[in-house]
Amino acid sequence: NVLILDFGSQYTQLIARRVRELNIYSEIKPYNKLPEDLSKYGAVILSGSPFSVRGEDAPCPDLSKIKGKKALLAICYGAQYLAHANGGNVAPSATREYGRANLSYIKADEHFLNGIRKGSQVWMSHSDTIKDLPEKAVRLASTHDVENAAFKIGGENTYGIQFHPEVYHTKDGTQLLKNFLVNIAGLEQDWTPDAFVDTTVEELKQKIGDDKVILGLSGGVDSSVAAMLLHKAIGKHLYCIFVNNGLLRKNEFEDVLHQYKDMGLNVKGVDASARFLDALEGESDPEKKRKIIGRVFIEVFDDEAHQIENVKWLAQGTIYPDRIESLSASGGPSAVIKSHHNVGGLPDYMNLKIVEPLHLLFKDEVRRVGKSIGMEDFILGRHPFPGPGLGIRILGDITKEKVSILQEVDAIFIEGLKKWNLYDKVWQAGAMLLPVNSVGVMGDERTYEKCVALRAVESTDGMTADWVNLPYEFLQKTSNDIINKVKGVNRVVYDISSKPPATIEWE
Ligand code: XMP
Repeated sequence: NVLILDFGSQYTQLIARRVRELNIYSEIKPYNKLPEDLSKYGAVILSGSPFSVRGEDAPCPDLSKIKGKKALLAICYGAQYLAHANGGNVAPSATREYGRANLSYIKADEHFLNGIRKGSQVWMSHSDTIKDLPEKAVRLASTHDVENAAFKIGGENTYGIQFHPEVYHTKDGTQLLKNFLVNIAGLEQDWTPDAFVDTTVEELKQKIGDDKVILGLSGGVDSSVAAMLLHKAIGKHLYCIFVNNGLLRKNEFEDVLHQYKDMGLNVKGVDASARFLDALEGESDPEKKRKIIGRVFIEVFDDEAHQIENVKWLAQGTIYPDRIESLSASGGPSAVIKSHHNVGGLPDYMNLKIVEPLHLLFKDEVRRVGKSIGMEDFILGRHPFPGPGLGIRILGDITKEKVSILQEVDAIFIEGLKKWNLYDKVWQAGAMLLPVNSVGVMGDERTYEKCVALRAVESTDGMTADWVNLPYEFLQKTSNDIINKVKGVNRVVYDISSKPPATIEWE
């Protein structure tokens, strides 16, 4: 078990993921919330930070319970803090150092640098530099501009590095982390998806016993994997509810329901389309639409929950990134851009205990766990789809006719991506129905019909995204198919905006 102390770096989550890719469990804590009991941690990593150790508000945690007592790796700000706090000297660099650099000196026969050769590319991102090393420290590596790129403190398992081993551009970053965690800290690489499934299923059995649990399935990866883990643990005592809000993709309700039943889940499909569409009638404000869809979902789910006697638990597919107490997340007032609605965000009055089998996992780990319990790519490989569904892809007010136009357009686009082997290269794709009519000509007739926008993005977490350079031939064929097959649409455009400044969904 590895403890990562977060000083607010944008890369902190990446450190945790890299460690876990080595099959070693890691967790992140803010630097000012150091756990009392450190006995379960075999190694500690200090993250980078936007702060300068010379600044007044610089994070300065007391590391006396860690340094010299546990294997310690300090990255970037962490390394500067380590130097600064132990008699070294940290000063502004002559130039701010961002981007690639190469190791020009590497100390020979050093376990920490095993397998890493002179010239190896590393990634820098700092404006301070360590001019003088702390007491008892030995230089382990340098780059052209950074003399103290890596050091260790003699007589301790304490290491500092100025560059970022967690980012992709540090070519031997994983090797370095492995050297530290396995060779130096002596940790076992036993945190595998199979091991996770075994321990989680056992824990769920203990925790839940013979109680009944309800869970809202969305068709997405997280709720599906959460359901399968619970199913393995408590079988028929898990009651799944899959709500059709009338804003799903074409045939999605039937297809996914079928799939869930094949997986052996005890699932009830509830078709509440009419209830959602009634509630949405005439509403064209994006935030109000989101709120209505969220509210009706809770009402429908609550009604269903009441029909199952004696339910004690509500299961949710919450994953680790939703939960990390990050400094940036808690640090400042961030504007509400969109009020998100997720299956599972249910009110307290339901009076249920919460169980979240995936709360330790990152998204890619959820997929690996799903694979390890034999789930099909049909569910594991699906693009993310927002809770409010097509409701936020139909700009303006929503009608049944608009929903079916957009379902047809979306189906042609998504099927096309699959046929052209592009689906798995795209992180998310969909179509937007615009509240715009434009003039066209079909045969000899004038038309005045709807315009749709196609959007396909690459991303890792949806926080930032860029549009995908889809082949022109594909766009050409798709546009033709849409205009020829979907009545009511006479124009197709492709969205070439990145996030930020645009968001992925148009509402
Ligand atoms: P935006 O549009 O904010 O979307 O760039 C980022 C990611 O979040 C998804 N999204 C939602 N997911 N409930 C969800 O479960 C929502 O209300 C919601 N709104 C946006 C969006 O599809 C993209 O993957």
